[in-house]
Amino acid sequence: MKVDKSQLLDILRLVPDPLIAQSIVEAHRIREIDISEERVQIRLVFTQNLNQDQKSSINFACMSAINGKFPGLDVHVHLETQLRAGEKAPGILQQVTNIIAVASGKGGVGKSTVSSNLAVGLQRLGYRTGLIDADFYGPSIPTMFGLEGQKPKLVDVHGKPKIVPLEAAGLSIISIGFIVEPDQAVVLRGPRLAGIMKQFIEECTWPELDYLVVDLPPGTGDIQLTLVQTVPLTGVVMVTTPQKVAWIDAIKAMNMFRLPSVNVPILGVVENMSWFSPPELPDQKYYLFGKGGGQYLATEADAKLLGQVPIVEAIRESGDSGSPIIASDNKSMQEIWMDIAKNTVAAVDMRNKMQEPTRTVDIKN
Ligand SMILES: Nc1ncnc2c1ncn2[C@@H]1O[C@H](COP(=O)(O)OP(=O)(O)OP(=O)(O)O)[C@@H](O)[C@H]1O
Ligand SMILES: [Mg+2]
Repeated sequence: MKVDKSQLLDILRLVPDPLIAQSIVEAHRIREIDISEERVQIRLVFTQNLNQDQKSSINFACMSAINGKFPGLDVHVHLETQLRAGEKAPGILQQVTNIIAVASGKGGVGKSTVSSNLAVGLQRLGYRTGLIDADFYGPSIPTMFGLEGQKPKLVDVHGKPKIVPLEAAGLSIISIGFIVEPDQAVVLRGPRLAGIMKQFIEECTWPELDYLVVDLPPGTGDIQLTLVQTVPLTGVVMVTTPQKVAWIDAIKAMNMFRLPSVNVPILGVVENMSWFSPPELPDQKYYLFGKGGGQYLATEADAKLLGQVPIVEAIRESGDSGSPIIASDNKSMQEIWMDIAKNTVAAVDMRNKMQEPTRTVDIKN
């Protein structure tokens, strides 16, 4: 009997996920399908422990779906749990397990695009995810999630007013753009900036989160410094284009996080704008910004290249229209961004296994 992976995936698309209202394929539970002659082995990974009933029913559902179409196949389903949680960060934001900053050297290389698609990707993998737009000078997140002009609610918690993050695409989101008018943000300086960062961290009603993604402005200014002084970052995802001027600046920015007194691990690198393929010639790649910068930066950081994102008009369009491209029905884009999210999870898991939790930096101004 000849059966291939895509046939099996089509069948498994009909098997409901036990944890969220999607199929196990859409919920990205399938990590491996191994077919050898009459035997099929499927490895499914869940982000929390399943009870015995859930385990039996998912086993049964996979086997009966496959045997319904291919009666002779010997189907083995392996269920694994990969914990959502690493180690709890000490101090503030106890309810948040991992805090990931998205940084770059140069501006305009795609940090906000990476932050928003990564956050939605993590959410789609089943992780509870939040997003802080820490680009106080040029907040893009309200536009990217269609939240322009919206104001967060204030609630009273033990006599103190707290800000309730807005909700979009299944994420809890906060941005300076929800709080001050855009033309006022540019005049924010040192202590005022630190105050707002603290407000975002300590005076928001963040729910329990597996991941909190922080979209940074470019470079290494007050905001980066304030962030590492305010929260223990799990790590940083660096964004660069392939070109030399971008990765040279990225190394400088990265070195701030790697200062012994700061000591925030670099989780990996996303290379953005890696190539351009005209829609009429999808197999043709034009390397407009050169080649290899992402891998070079990753090697320099002793970290992984988490993914390469081509230049695609739809990325810009979706960013402007309020819904990150990963949430569209563009299959190749979904795949690229979901892989980046999965690779980030793997890098965070590895970091949490191998390294001590980060401590906030105590720098006297
Ligand atoms: N791969 C891509 N293909 C096409 N357009 C892209 C791509 N990545 C980003 N863009 C577009 O380029 C512009 C800059 O991207 P983005 O805002 O994410 O960069 P940034 O690094 O956050 O910029 P800043 O430094 O100003 O915060 C946006 O209009 C975005 O939609
Ligand atoms: Mg940005």
